[in-house]
Amino acid sequence: MVIDFHSHVLPKMDDGSKNTDMSLAMLEESRGQGVEVVVATPHFYGHRESAASFLERRGQALRRLKGAVASSGKAAGGELPFVLFGAEVAFFSKLTELDELDSLCINGTRTLLLEMPFAPWTRYELDAVSSLCLDRGYQVILAHLERFYALQKDEYVLENLLRLPLWVQVNAGSLLPLTRRGPWIRLFREGRAHLLGSDCHDLAKRPPNLAAGRGMLRRKAGEPTLARMDELGARLLGLYA
Ligand SMILES: [Fe+2]
Repeated sequence: MVIDFHSHVLPKMDDGSKNTDMSLAMLEESRGQGVEVVVATPHFYGHRESAASFLERRGQALRRLKGAVASSGKAAGGELPFVLFGAEVAFFSKLTELDELDSLCINGTRTLLLEMPFAPWTRYELDAVSSLCLDRGYQVILAHLERFYALQKDEYVLENLLRLPLWVQVNAGSLLPLTRRGPWIRLFREGRAHLLGSDCHDLAKRPPNLAAGRGMLRRKAGEPTLARMDELGARLLGLYA
């Protein structure tokens, strides 16, 4: 199942889609690229907003989007992809104590898209992520690992983090630049990256581009890599094709 694991398609939630028209156009564009499921992952910053407030806002945005879909006459699974609700949960100090963590997972699963700090990670972050994966049984997806990779100086922390039973998401756009894509394609080949997301925010600067990323991955890492990714994605979301 072709799944976009990372998107900012919900209207007026964050720095992504500005309104329901833009959301619909982004979804249509994704569907045109063969995407069957889009996971809506608006930013959640627990250090500046309560989970209750975020969930309330997300509920409203989803209702607005559903209303717009209904009045457009376009159907999920037809001209539009199915939209699942999730969040891009930014790491913060109280993350592991957050009561609402289950509600921030994708669509009632235990799958959580986690955005790590844009800084060198330490044993503190390693312990926290270990606790989420091993003690609390979350299926953690590290959002766009490539964005943080060069910042990591502590090899012990990085290696042990990537040895945890977690999943690594890479942005489709990171697989495209000729001179910079090599390390991220290698991560997929080595089985150290697992999922793709567009991280789309709009239609111009950061548009839906999953198909381009998938095409590159198919060319450079082979069809079985894509097949594994699609099977894992469906499993993590409790969807079986
Ligand atoms: Fe994002």
